[in-house]
Amino acid sequence: MTESNGINGTHVTGNGNAVPVVIEAHNVLASPVPAKYFEKHPTKPHISSLAEYKALYKESLDSPDTFWSRMANELLTFSRPYTKVQHGGFEYGDSAWFLDGLLNASYNCVDRHAFADPDRIAIIFEADEEKDSRKVSYGELLREVSKVAATLKSFGVTKGDTVAIYLPMIPEAIIALLAVVRLGAIHSVVFAGFSSGSLSDRVLNANSKVVITTDEGRRGGKDVSTKRIVDEALKNCPDVKHVLVYRRTGAVIPWTPGRDYWWHEEIVKHRPYFPPVDVASEDPLFLLYTSGSTGKPKGVLHTTAGYLLGAAMTGKYVFDIHPGDIYFTAGDVGWITGHTYVLYAPLLLGVTTVVFEGTPAYPSFSRYWDIIEKYKATQFYVAPTALRLLKRAGDEFIHHDLSSVRTLGSVGEPIAPEIWNWYHEKIGKEEAHIVDTYWQTETGSNIITPLSGVTPTKPGSASLPFFGIEPSIIDPVSGEELFGNDVEGVLAIKRPWPSMARSVWNSHGRYLETYLHPYRGYYFTGDGAGRDHEGYYWIRGRVDDVVNVSGHRLSTAEIESALIQNSNVAEAAVVGTHDDLTGQAVNAFVVLRVDIEGNMVDMKKELILQVRKSIGPFAAPKNIIIVCDLPKTRSGKIMRRILRKVLAGEEDGLGDLSTLANPSVVEEIIATVKALR
Ligand code: WTA
Repeated sequence: MTESNGINGTHVTGNGNAVPVVIEAHNVLASPVPAKYFEKHPTKPHISSLAEYKALYKESLDSPDTFWSRMANELLTFSRPYTKVQHGGFEYGDSAWFLDGLLNASYNCVDRHAFADPDRIAIIFEADEEKDSRKVSYGELLREVSKVAATLKSFGVTKGDTVAIYLPMIPEAIIALLAVVRLGAIHSVVFAGFSSGSLSDRVLNANSKVVITTDEGRRGGKDVSTKRIVDEALKNCPDVKHVLVYRRTGAVIPWTPGRDYWWHEEIVKHRPYFPPVDVASEDPLFLLYTSGSTGKPKGVLHTTAGYLLGAAMTGKYVFDIHPGDIYFTAGDVGWITGHTYVLYAPLLLGVTTVVFEGTPAYPSFSRYWDIIEKYKATQFYVAPTALRLLKRAGDEFIHHDLSSVRTLGSVGEPIAPEIWNWYHEKIGKEEAHIVDTYWQTETGSNIITPLSGVTPTKPGSASLPFFGIEPSIIDPVSGEELFGNDVEGVLAIKRPWPSMARSVWNSHGRYLETYLHPYRGYYFTGDGAGRDHEGYYWIRGRVDDVVNVSGHRLSTAEIESALIQNSNVAEAAVVGTHDDLTGQAVNAFVVLRVDIEGNMVDMKKELILQVRKSIGPFAAPKNIIIVCDLPKTRSGKIMRRILRKVLAGEEDGLGDLSTLANPSVVEEIIATVKALR
């Protein structure tokens, strides 16, 4: 699995990526929760002190059954109680929770609050154009979810079916997801920035027979042709028999009679109460496709009770959600953050979630702050990439009363200390508590994170493990766990937790191979990490072939295969490099077929377009570097490490190139890259 290349104290994992083993001096001291945080708190945080966190954390590891059943009974409503808290483990990937229990996710998110307080606001919709904004109460949400569930049932959707969702950030996205799970069916959301090709791959892989979309989307003042993309995708998906289309802009769109149905025409046919269908705790709740090191994206499978518990618990303890809170996650429902923290966490806890359709830059760089001020949001959660953009735009855009905010979250990539400090000073006014939450699509909810109002923080560190999470740092060379503090290696988790993904759709072997087999007895995250002298965790980023561009997870293999679909391309190697704005940027080294001549500027444009078309605009390479050959080992493996170093200007640190089949190519690549600078 791993090899040591003996260069500069770095180690290399099986795929040639370097893991830094240099221990940075983490002599930063943790700062306490700002004193003003407590002054503006409506009551007090759910956990009163770091000592209480430590005691509960200890209990979660020492007496897991008692701990988890107390949490589950407090936060979830089962229609039949479970009889066993936990079964299975990492050896076979059969971890299962709350066995024999029956429940329904939409009942937990909607009905129980609609019964108690139907007028309470569930969703605040902030539209791209402010004037289109509206609010949805829990009572109304129950009626809308019911009508859509009945509509889907009339299309033949039943328990265990998958429904593909290709929707922008509108309340109907939340309604659609909840309607699917009300039937015991499985939602498979495809981010509405994906191309038609990526959409059809996912519809086919999940075997979805129904797709839900809009006529168009609206984002940053522009229209997005969602229905047209769906039509294109469905040319390859003959099994899709029904497309439900919500009218968002009123644009004239192509229509396939007998397959396409208007949302507003269908839902009025149905009664606004539809009984929730009970599912077993371990029945699937949703699939979400994500990029891994190799091959096609995989459909990460989450099940019902465990996932919901992770969402509710992190909402309660990480974000310290209290009744009456206005919770604003600026993330898209097409990614895991949108699933867990736009929909499930706030609605399970019965508070108000803000659904924002637009971008942070439209109509001005003040947009997030306008929203926080207008609705008096109490929590705000966003990716560092947006913060970098807003910091760069200039502080003149921040002139708001942001005093309602108690908790500021960060997610998706490491947050650099200067951005953390800016967030703390300019947005939090040194009164809010920053939670840098580390987690993944596969972990379902936050796993290493401060708890709002509790954990002292260090800018750039995700701090301490959440309840039940036992993180380990593993030496990637020996495969041995590194005990104690001041260690650096790869991050793994030592025991199952309720919200972890259970499988990869139709491919349990791939699940085992990706997560559970690299280090036996552990769940492997794919990230490098350090544990400092105080036991705080510092996430270094991926050690596999995954790049993180503006918080979007992409696999280099996926981009490479998009590039070689172009008949002019013989070979391609994609590497990620640091980028001040997007975190990482995609760089593609491309070898063209010999007989190509002519305008390379046009060729580069064509290749960028190729990636935009086959994956989506957000995957477009920042640089296309046309080279005559790629550095390869004698067995033909491309040495991406060399390409990465050349791009970083570290050509002096390339080390021993004698194992390459074609060492001379490196000089040529260095010259090409230098000429581009
Ligand atoms: C990265 C996003 C540093 C990490 C929720 C992980 C982070 C990948 C953090 C998962 C953080 C997420 N600090 N890195 N606080 N949060 N990551 O599946 O590399 O889209 O493996 O889930 O994002 O990305 P995904």
